Amino acid sequence: MRPLLIFGASKGVGLELARQERSCGRTVFALVREQSDAGGIGTAGAIVLRGDALRAADIARVFEHVREECDVVSTLGGQSADGRRADDEGNVNVIAEAERTGGVSRFVLVTSIGCGEMAPFRSDLAIAAFGAAVDAKTRAEERLRTSGMPWTIIRPGGLSSEPATGRGILSDDPEIHGFIHRQDVADLVSRALRDPATIGQALAAVDAGRMTCVRAVRPFPILA
Ligand SMILES: NC(=O)c1ccc[n+]([C@@H]2O[C@H](COP(=O)([O-])OP(=O)(O)OC[C@H]3O[C@@H](n4cnc5c(N)ncnc54)[C@H](OP(=O)(O)O)[C@@H]3O)[C@@H](O)[C@H]2O)c1
Repeated sequence: MRPLLIFGASKGVGLELARQERSCGRTVFALVREQSDAGGIGTAGAIVLRGDALRAADIARVFEHVREECDVVSTLGGQSADGRRADDEGNVNVIAEAERTGGVSRFVLVTSIGCGEMAPFRSDLAIAAFGAAVDAKTRAEERLRTSGMPWTIIRPGGLSSEPATGRGILSDDPEIHGFIHRQDVADLVSRALRDPATIGQALAAVDAGRMTCVRAVRPFPILA
């Protein structure tokens, strides 16, 4: 199994993914900011590399450290005190360096429902609450799509941290809305990494029991 390099693994979906992959015996590297808690990711058995995704030199150092063909997942999100966003700038730094090193087998970017072609179907409430973050994530998606790497984009609905339900699905319907638990998103990302049919796809991730759509949804047929 190739090593997995995760950006955004100090908590949330990234941490859940690291736990799942480590439990399968996979080597996991994780970039964690200097001031952030690396307790969870360290306990999961990942190799913690300190650095900030908003600094391109830190990202370059991470890839130099890994030094072999790997898969990359980014769940980066959020804004620093000076207004810069990991959603676009941080992710773009990671994508650019992954492209430059040339040894990336799969790149999975976790963004959000509402990105890209889903934008026209956002509610006014969603635009007011998360519009800027979602637009920034769309810019990162666009950069990844033109990178030449084997990319997959996973766009979760509203997240919560309860245990997995096992009902997570992926869909390419731009009008789907819904919610999903972080553990279920991590499971879908893990399966997407193993399923070449997801290469070149941008897919929403929702819980089949907590979603709505204007038409019947046919889930993307991902490997179990
Ligand atoms: N919350 C929702 O309902 C929702 C819905 C849809 C999509 N999303 C998106 O889905 C993804 C996963 O969400 P989540 O709530 O599980 O995770 P999250 O809590 O948003 O975690 C984001 C990760 O990015 C890291 N990060 C942020 N800026 C960084 C930087 N400059 N350098 C290095 N690391 C940085 C954070 O590390 P630190 O510990 O250092 O902060 C954290 O590990 C995110 O992109 C999120 O925006 C969220």
